[in-house]
Amino acid sequence: MRQAGRYMKEYRALRRKHSFLEMCKAPELAAKVTLLPVEQFDVDAAIIFSDILIPLEPMGIALEFGGSEGPVFQHPIREMKQINKLRRIEPEKDVPFLLDAIRMVRRELNGKVPLIGFSGAPFTLASYIIEGGHSKNYTLTKGMMYQNREGWDLLMEKLTQVLIPYLNAQVKAGAQALQVFDSWVGCLSPSDYEEYVLPHSKKIFDEVDRSVPIIHFGTMSSTLLEKMKGAGGDVIGVDWRIDLGEAWARLGYDVAIQGNLDPVILLGSPELIERETKRILERAAGRPGHVFNLGHGILPNTPVDNVARLVDAVHELSSK
Ligand code: CP3
Repeated sequence: MRQAGRYMKEYRALRRKHSFLEMCKAPELAAKVTLLPVEQFDVDAAIIFSDILIPLEPMGIALEFGGSEGPVFQHPIREMKQINKLRRIEPEKDVPFLLDAIRMVRRELNGKVPLIGFSGAPFTLASYIIEGGHSKNYTLTKGMMYQNREGWDLLMEKLTQVLIPYLNAQVKAGAQALQVFDSWVGCLSPSDYEEYVLPHSKKIFDEVDRSVPIIHFGTMSSTLLEKMKGAGGDVIGVDWRIDLGEAWARLGYDVAIQGNLDPVILLGSPELIERETKRILERAAGRPGHVFNLGHGILPNTPVDNVARLVDAVHELSSK
């Protein structure tokens, strides 16, 4: 959850010299940033430094990262003729920097901890390119879903056909687990998820290289958990809005769970961090298959010492 990012002074120093996209596209820089949290904290995994929006550029969608407003698409995709023009990608040719970064990190880690690769899920990516950036109500995304079924299905299908080789190429380059981020899926009703999203997400989980475990992550998705499990994933990622014990009981213990500390807790005292960590671990009750994580991205104003405290607290308090 942005394990390497703006809360680290080493990251901010690099960002003064390079734009975010430059850093994603320079394998040496991406590899270096990926390793920062592994060097500073006793984390149990590395996640490759990149972004879920990276495969969209080679599909033919121009992407910019503005200032504080996050990603911006100057030409949002809203018409059938734009959707028709979107291209498939060849990962080795179109995103060689990502695969090179994965190979470099694997070499550097030398087995110390596993490396996670990732992508966005079709719905979350569709929402960015239809809205033109981040959205509050997803009016245009749902508008296409409801009013242009053919366009919606074609867009989701095209994204799916890009994401499968994109994820497989990461495994081939050395990723030892994958995470699929459907960060904004919680804006949908359960029936809309089932009708407009699940078949596409399911295709990804059915067709991606299953020699590595896959985490299926969403936020505000407590009403969708069973359906997300139905779409697929060895691990379901949940945010803090649901009690972890309740989420796992509903999902069933045949699937692993990831989560779910509220990132804002990391702005509090060491005592608060320990108490909340303990609470989550108690809810997991020592069952195998709990991946401790934040419920969503770490905040840029998080004190580094608190991150170290969290990592140590998880190790001290969890049964090993
Ligand atoms: O988790 C990690 O450490 C790996 C790196 C990673 C980033 N983005 C780096 C990043 C991962 C896994 C992502 C995924 C991502 N990107 C998601 C899914 C997870 C989530 O947060 O829901 C989404 C929705 C995006 C799209 C995106 N990228 C947004 C909305 C933003 C702006 C966010 C913000 O906090 O301003 C980004 C930029 C981004 N991606 C940064 C980082 C470190 C900050 C870039 C900077 O230095 O300015």
